[in-house]
Amino acid sequence: MDHEHVRDVDPAVADALEGEVDRQRNSLQMIASENHVSEAVIDAQGSALTNKYAEGYPGSRYYGGCEYADEIEQLAIDRAQDLFGAEHINVQPHSGTQANQAVYFAMLEPGDKILSLDLTHGGHLSHGHPANFVGQFYEVEQYEVDPDTGYLDYEGLAEQAEAFEPDIIVSGYSAYPREVEWERIQEAADSVGALHLADIAHITGLVAAGVHDSPVGTADFVTGSTHKTIRAGRGGIVMCGEEYADDIDSAVFPGGQGGPLMHNVAGKAVGFKEALEPDFLEYAEQTIANAKALGESLVDNGFSLVSDGTDNHLVLVDLRESHPETSGGDAEEALEDAGIVLNGNTVPGETRSAFDPSGIRAGTPALTTRGFDEDDCRKVGDLIARVIDAPEDESVIDEVREEVQSLCDANPLYG
Ligand SMILES: Cc1ncc(COP(=O)(O)O)c(C=O)c1O
Repeated sequence: MDHEHVRDVDPAVADALEGEVDRQRNSLQMIASENHVSEAVIDAQGSALTNKYAEGYPGSRYYGGCEYADEIEQLAIDRAQDLFGAEHINVQPHSGTQANQAVYFAMLEPGDKILSLDLTHGGHLSHGHPANFVGQFYEVEQYEVDPDTGYLDYEGLAEQAEAFEPDIIVSGYSAYPREVEWERIQEAADSVGALHLADIAHITGLVAAGVHDSPVGTADFVTGSTHKTIRAGRGGIVMCGEEYADDIDSAVFPGGQGGPLMHNVAGKAVGFKEALEPDFLEYAEQTIANAKALGESLVDNGFSLVSDGTDNHLVLVDLRESHPETSGGDAEEALEDAGIVLNGNTVPGETRSAFDPSGIRAGTPALTTRGFDEDDCRKVGDLIARVIDAPEDESVIDEVREEVQSLCDANPLYG
């Protein structure tokens, strides 16, 4: 992957771009929200469509010259419809956060009530954290997972909804390793006359492939990011029933955004086409099998997993029992030195802080894209354990770095 045009103009940026490709090639990307898109998606995102203003929607734009923009956006919508089966789909949100913003802006008034999962229990900033606009414009109350099992507490959520009387309940999570029972959350919402937003940012690809239950047709709104498990490049998507279509479209544009990032919409179209191919199902199944193998390996090495395992693409490790002296931040740093890139993460019942949490979150979407199987992921679990058992031992870090390089060489990325 060369950047010859950039190099002609700006060698400093070209060097950094090449450095980034090498970093991705030669280390293990295990941040659960990341993936490696195809070169086709990169090509589409790096196209001349970045020049084009296309405010509006296909067939109804505020600018001329939109015939190709129309064609591409319609392809993205049609393919998303084939993947998810929603009545109405908007592919213009710049990111998952903007997709959520569109739903709030369309359906709520400032001061209305949102019930969502606490950030330290696996929720997302855009679900109501005080540092995010959502926490500042709306009244937010948060639910938690069951402290004993790490699973969602659906009964507790229903009781909390009855007491709080939210206008909207948000489901879908950033660090929840289990399948979500969307109907139970919908029942809690229906019983208090609340709307239900299911944010499938992390599991969009798993839902598209049909290996994870879909909230489409159950929840009133489904939002997602398009660059995580679905591998369609950076962006967001909103899905809803026909009755909300106009409200959502107006909330995306002109409500919250200006001109759509049409080059990213082209990336979505290409990535969605790839996700419609039969091998995407294999990819999604392998991603989950790999996360299970990784989790088993970590447990065999003495680690505790929140909820004791996983149903999806990530594991959440609580270090407090096995490594009480090591924070998630310490672990993240030592692992990065060894070529394993993941993030320190809060865990349910967090006793440290969001800046120095007690856990690590590890995902398999990117490893699976480059060809890792269960044996590889078991090996990765062993390597993670070796580093966290001795985070300050340079010789261990060096040995693991070498083994990481062999795994990378055996599973090459981008040619
Ligand atoms: C559940 C959830 N929603 C929304 C987002 C935000 O996505 P984006 O970074 O595309 O704004 C994330 C990001 O990881 C997420 O985990």
